[in-house]
Amino acid sequence: VELLRGDRPMAGRRVLVTAGGTVERLDPVRYITNDSSGKMGFALAETARDWGADVTLVCARTDGPPPAGVRVVRAESAEEMRDAVMSRLPELDAVVKAAAVADYRPAVRHPSKMKKGSETLTLELVKTPDILQQIGEWKRTREPGGKAPFVVGFAAETDDVERHAMEKLARKGCDLIAANDVSAEGAGFGADTNIVNVYGAEGLVEAIPQSAKRSVAERLWRLVALRAGWDWT
Ligand code: CTP
Ligand code: CA
Repeated sequence: VELLRGDRPMAGRRVLVTAGGTVERLDPVRYITNDSSGKMGFALAETARDWGADVTLVCARTDGPPPAGVRVVRAESAEEMRDAVMSRLPELDAVVKAAAVADYRPAVRHPSKMKKGSETLTLELVKTPDILQQIGEWKRTREPGGKAPFVVGFAAETDDVERHAMEKLARKGCDLIAANDVSAEGAGFGADTNIVNVYGAEGLVEAIPQSAKRSVAERLWRLVALRAGWDWT
């Protein structure tokens, strides 16, 4: 692109970031969601924007509005997010999946507000699509030599972080996985800081101590560039 990328090292790169918690509706006024604030995904999108990338932010429910200067695609449920992400894969250089995707959704979405009745109520839930895993499958089965994005997943864990993260990396076929211990002080859902261990196929690649989510985002993008073989300077 340019001879000197300078302070826009991601110029010419097309990246997609997912952020927030998906919303899985039960009826017109009720739903299942989670505590994800979207802050980590927003920091990743802002950093990539500031460093010159073309950024698509696929946004579920978040605290506060998404950053300016990025292409925002709304996706409420896991299924909507899956469609938004999968349809854009062929044009992307990198995908970072910071969203907290619900693992289950109500089996039935009632068209009108459910009425109160019996003393107990059992909700049937069904699995949502695993978007990260579908991206991995898409990469494995695409035409040889075809363009495919570098893929980073997140893993929210409360125990045995390394074992769970490595197992997810293998199962989902992503290039890196950024694991955070959501039970730690100063990490995870809603916090302004994060503590992240990044794993690749060979094991721990980078241990990011407690830092502002913006700094975590900067370190992650540098790592992506390095591992994806992007020109940086
Ligand atoms: N993920 C996804 N689609 C899902 C569930 C998770 O794309 N239906 C992605 C998340 O965006 C994240 C990664 O997979 O990047 C890991 O999410 P996590 O919840 O930690 O892993 P799960 O595979 O859902 O396993 P579990 O919740 O049982 O730990
Ligand atoms: Ca999950």
